[in-house]
Amino acid sequence: MNINYNSERQIFKIDTENSSYIMMVRRNGYLQHLYYGAYIKDDDLEYLFSDVINESFSPWAPSAGVKFFALDTQPQEYSCNGAGDYRVSAFSVEMECGNSATALKYVSHEIFDGKKRLSGLPAVYVEEDSMAKTLEITMLDELSGAQVVLSYCVVDGFDAVMRYTRVKNTSNKAFFIEKVYSTCVDFDDKDYDLIHLYGTWAAERTMERKPIIQGIQEIASKRGSSSHNHNPFVALVDHNATEEHGNAYGFTLCYSGNFSAKIEVDTIDQTRVIMGINPEDFKWKLCPGEEFTSPEAIMVYSADGIGGMSRQFHKLIRKNICRGKYKNVRRPILINNWEATYFEFNTEKLIKIAEAAAPLGIEMLVMDDGWFGTRNDETTSIGDWIVNENKLPGGLSVLTDKLSQLGMKFGLWFEPEIVSFNSELYRSHPDWCIHVPGRDRSVGRETAVLDMSRKEVVDHVFNAVSSVLRSADISYVKWDFNRNLTEVGSAALPADRQKEVFHRYVLGVYDLAERLTSTFPDILFEGCSGGGGRFDCGMFYYFPQIWTSDDTDAFERCKIQYGSSICYPTSVMSAHVSASPNHQTARKMSFETRGNVATSGSFGYELDLSIISNEEKEMVKAQVERYKDLYDTIVNGDNYRLIDPFTNSRWCAWEYVSEDKSRAVLTYVVTKYKIKGRYHIKLAGLDPNTLYKESVTGRCYYGDTLMNAGINLGNDLHDGDSAILVFDKV
Ligand code: GLA
Repeated sequence: MNINYNSERQIFKIDTENSSYIMMVRRNGYLQHLYYGAYIKDDDLEYLFSDVINESFSPWAPSAGVKFFALDTQPQEYSCNGAGDYRVSAFSVEMECGNSATALKYVSHEIFDGKKRLSGLPAVYVEEDSMAKTLEITMLDELSGAQVVLSYCVVDGFDAVMRYTRVKNTSNKAFFIEKVYSTCVDFDDKDYDLIHLYGTWAAERTMERKPIIQGIQEIASKRGSSSHNHNPFVALVDHNATEEHGNAYGFTLCYSGNFSAKIEVDTIDQTRVIMGINPEDFKWKLCPGEEFTSPEAIMVYSADGIGGMSRQFHKLIRKNICRGKYKNVRRPILINNWEATYFEFNTEKLIKIAEAAAPLGIEMLVMDDGWFGTRNDETTSIGDWIVNENKLPGGLSVLTDKLSQLGMKFGLWFEPEIVSFNSELYRSHPDWCIHVPGRDRSVGRETAVLDMSRKEVVDHVFNAVSSVLRSADISYVKWDFNRNLTEVGSAALPADRQKEVFHRYVLGVYDLAERLTSTFPDILFEGCSGGGGRFDCGMFYYFPQIWTSDDTDAFERCKIQYGSSICYPTSVMSAHVSASPNHQTARKMSFETRGNVATSGSFGYELDLSIISNEEKEMVKAQVERYKDLYDTIVNGDNYRLIDPFTNSRWCAWEYVSEDKSRAVLTYVVTKYKIKGRYHIKLAGLDPNTLYKESVTGRCYYGDTLMNAGINLGNDLHDGDSAILVFDKV
């Protein structure tokens, strides 16, 4: 990695091992983008520019010092709105006079070792300054006094560039930030497919790939959370890019709230990508001297196709976003009672499940929703974090004492940001939730959302949750969030700050997460939002794993886990074996296949283990032992997607290869029986010269044979069949 400034030509060049990113100060201070892609040696690419393109319908900037220099047709590094560039733009401020034409010019820059922390926001971090380099470019909009610092950072060992923006008001009047995207990249062509991950509850991160089109496409959320519907991730890839070959540019945002990623192809076939906080429902008042920091965007470039891009994200998220005790430690294999009992449980029933689970090697019992207040269904008590002694006489310690006799740990469900309308908390503080005075409060699962923009609310939740966590031996917390924000307003803010609430809400959630995770460093926090409704790098900074989806059907999970893997590593995806027929889809599935699919994740069970057959109990035991054995390869290895469940109608497959290439773990699942189907697969990522022994048949193959000729799984596979095959270096 390196960052270099060519002072004679005013060119910045940011290099990672395999990528270069170049920009240049031109024409009296305009910062122009020159190049992003495979590593190149030269920095002076000014010859690529053409100054005059369309002189009348793209009016030109008089201060550029040359005639006909139109911002509208020029590549920009951080485009502004209203002063000549008509494309989607990254930044604008509204001045006191009401105008919002904004124009940023270069002022100065600084290059230094290390990476700054973003105040109050999650971001990529490094443990030592020598592991990162940062470039900060200071820009100024002279008329408004908006000073903008563009931060670029590279981390040793990654083909990634991290970007964010800091805005300071250097004038003596307040102004409003109307939009402040975290990144903006101009490409000089339009020959790309867009990959993005859309979905809904129980079907998160469906991968879609389509050629980009003339005009603007937007992938966004304005739900107050990153959402089930659209994930804060987009990639532009060559039309012919495959898993292994072709250019792939991935963008993700370290942010859990409203986001927007826009892709515009302009009329001269240039493409712009911007990504950041969604400007819709956003406006931030910045008083003289105040600063605002945007979330961080992560950009990855790979010449090794979509798979190469994904593996860069996986490693970066695992090593430089996830934190805490469980970052590198195998997480306990758990049994969660939600699908086993729903609200119908008590101490006795939970102990029965634990007694069945412990001898099978399961290490933790998680008590899900329904242990507090008077909650026996969805209608009450969220916010009243007091143990319901009707269900749990004697409190949590009766349960934890019994679990410790069984050698098991204990985990607990919370929904810290939510309040039931029918709760003591709501009755005592009806103004503590997000609302607009005089307007109906929309109802989602009989709840409202607490106003996390208010410090006293965050303090209250911190104290309430902490006191439960201190009351017993608790090793794990499942932090859920089961509704999106509506009627967004805060009773604590003046009229001209109401559009700050969405972002202030997210900052409050991060504050609470930081305080709880640092106060209880030994507790493993798992994120959840009706499954994977808030599955983003912002959350992974606090929670090293997230409940991937409420859909535990093995076929559906093949898609959800495959789609998630486009950006996110296996280590962050919780995956449980649940009952058959499945509670979401009613599909029947063998115990084996349910176990095989859940093994590619943070593993556990979600069914009543006290009522399964002895034969199934033996299978649990074997699955648990196998998970422990394969854990290192699955979680820390390289992930290769082999057969795509979205486009292949009969089966899917994926593979993990250990860092030293001494072991590969292949999983395949047949999703549709085809008469006389042929099941033949080529592996990837192996050492061509190593001899590997396959675990089931004992047959040995060289790596090059497995990757080029492949293996034959026969033609007698049926709907629902699956296997995990392990290839060990002989
Ligand atoms: C959400 C979660 C589930 C479960 C329920 C409890 O839907 O995703 O796993 O915890 O809430 O109400």
